[in-house]
Amino acid sequence: MEQFVWRVLPLLTILVSFLVFFYLQDSYWAQLHPLVKLPQNKCSLLHHHHFWLTSKRILTPQGIISGSVEIKEGKIISVIEGYSKQGKSKHEEVIDYGDAVVMPGLIDVHVHLDDPGRTAWEGFDTGTRAAAAGGVTTVVDMPLNNHPTTVSKETLKLKLEAAENRIYVDVGFWGGLIPENALNTSILEGLLNAGVLGLKSFMCPSGISDFPMTTIHHIKDGLSVLAKYRRPLIVHSEIQQHSKKHLELNDKGGPRAYLTYLHTRPPTW
Ligand SMILES: *[C@@H]1O[C@H](CO)[C@@H](O)[C@H](O)[C@H]1NC(C)=O
Repeated sequence: MEQFVWRVLPLLTILVSFLVFFYLQDSYWAQLHPLVKLPQNKCSLLHHHHFWLTSKRILTPQGIISGSVEIKEGKIISVIEGYSKQGKSKHEEVIDYGDAVVMPGLIDVHVHLDDPGRTAWEGFDTGTRAAAAGGVTTVVDMPLNNHPTTVSKETLKLKLEAAENRIYVDVGFWGGLIPENALNTSILEGLLNAGVLGLKSFMCPSGISDFPMTTIHHIKDGLSVLAKYRRPLIVHSEIQQHSKKHLELNDKGGPRAYLTYLHTRPPTW
């Protein structure tokens, strides 16, 4: 027994000292790089409490500067030209982006994520990843070409379900103004109360069968509801002509010519 103890004891001692060493290392690192407890939305790529992003090209209201952006507890607290390590303690992190542009996130208010229903065209996953890759941090999704179109609180709910855990940037939603909801205030108010940021309508056929065009009367009705909510109406304002002659493709026009494209559109708006 005694022999056994003498064999095991040194091994145990070594094991315990390793454990103590790694424990102290860990807390040493934790002190150097204190992790911010991130909120549920995980809206940060850099898990530092206090850090600097440096770049030779930082876009500011005064133009492009070479400098650093100081971030503390998830908020930008300074943007300065140049960068000096002076006065910075070990507790601080610097991430140098070199020549890469550091700029405010862009907002794109006109995107078609087509989800649910036409995800072969686009989708929450691909569309919002592409947005993030291009520096766009907020998109507002059009009420078509998803199927069904976003024209009631029920169809907005389908959108929200499809978006769950599949978006990489902030997403807002436009609702659609179509004859059915323009003539029924309770559908329209249901959609607005459910959180759409405003409405979109077409004065010519949209090309999507469950998104019919609106006349001036529908638009006036929609506007009177929107006025109460102080949200905007955006209108695709090409006017439908009785003659559809302009829509016939002209074989003579070059398929890549801008004029050929213009001839496919209604002549007035
Ligand atoms: C408006 O739409 C709601 C919900 O679809 C329906 O219950 C109601 O009868 C409609 N009202 C009118 C006046 O058509």
